[in-house]
Amino acid sequence: MKALGTAHRYFQHALRAVTGKHDPMLPPPHLHTIGTGNFRAIGEEFLELFQNAGLKPTDRVLDVGAGTGRMALPLTDYLTTGTYDGLEIIKPSVDWCSEAYAQWPNFRFHHADIHNLRYNAKGSVDGADYRFPFEDDSFDFVFLTSVFTHMQAREVGNYFAEIARVLAPGGTAFITAFLLDDDARAALAAKSAHYSFKVVLDDCYAEDAKVPEKAIAFDPDVYSRLASPLVMAEMLPGDWRGKKGTSFQDITILRAA
Ligand SMILES: C[S@@+](CC[C@H](N)C(=O)[O-])C[C@H]1O[C@@H](n2cnc3c(N)ncnc32)[C@H](O)[C@@H]1O
Repeated sequence: MKALGTAHRYFQHALRAVTGKHDPMLPPPHLHTIGTGNFRAIGEEFLELFQNAGLKPTDRVLDVGAGTGRMALPLTDYLTTGTYDGLEIIKPSVDWCSEAYAQWPNFRFHHADIHNLRYNAKGSVDGADYRFPFEDDSFDFVFLTSVFTHMQAREVGNYFAEIARVLAPGGTAFITAFLLDDDARAALAAKSAHYSFKVVLDDCYAEDAKVPEKAIAFDPDVYSRLASPLVMAEMLPGDWRGKKGTSFQDITILRAA
């Protein structure tokens, strides 16, 4: 299935090259780290969700785990006096984005060599100790899409502390996650959920014991404890539970006091 998706992406890329329909803002297939969905359409969908959560065109925005710019792309049209900073652990993705987005001076991409068994297995920095390279209170809106679903609890705890540090008072964090509340646990028991999350780790659950970072879930009370002092304002359940949701992953919206 995964091999088919990869072959499809290379085919589409080659087809666009020969037909002259090359889209310079679509990343090359070898940098691919996300599902098979439409890159531009998914970014647009999330922009609408960010706006519903309070994003404004003048905001200072931080995208943690920016990947290849799927969420950055629609922001190039949306942000006016606002700024965008993307933090990412895969160096070639940061290099590609830095070049592709050079035409927007308010967009910056930063690399951090953090270890992640799935995405950066040779990384030299422990995410549980990492300090974001930004001043206190320097962002209005921070988002992480499909990132905490690939990180274990000790790193997530540190990232939440860093998000709380860099968010200005009243700022918003928009974060996707897999949360095992009663509804999700009922779906797991009925085997109607997309995952089983049977592997029990410290303060989190994984799908795959060998590479836990493939998919990680949290109990909601543990997630809220890790997030403190950020306060959970809203949770929008995702399709992964086996029922129609807002997006595939759960969406959590948190506020800084
Ligand atoms: C599934 S991709 C999602 C990329 C992007 N957020 C998007 O929605 O298109 C997960 C991303 O998280 C990044 N990542 C994993 N661990 C990270 C960490 N500790 N800090 C920052 N980014 C991380 C990966 O390198 C990868 O680009």
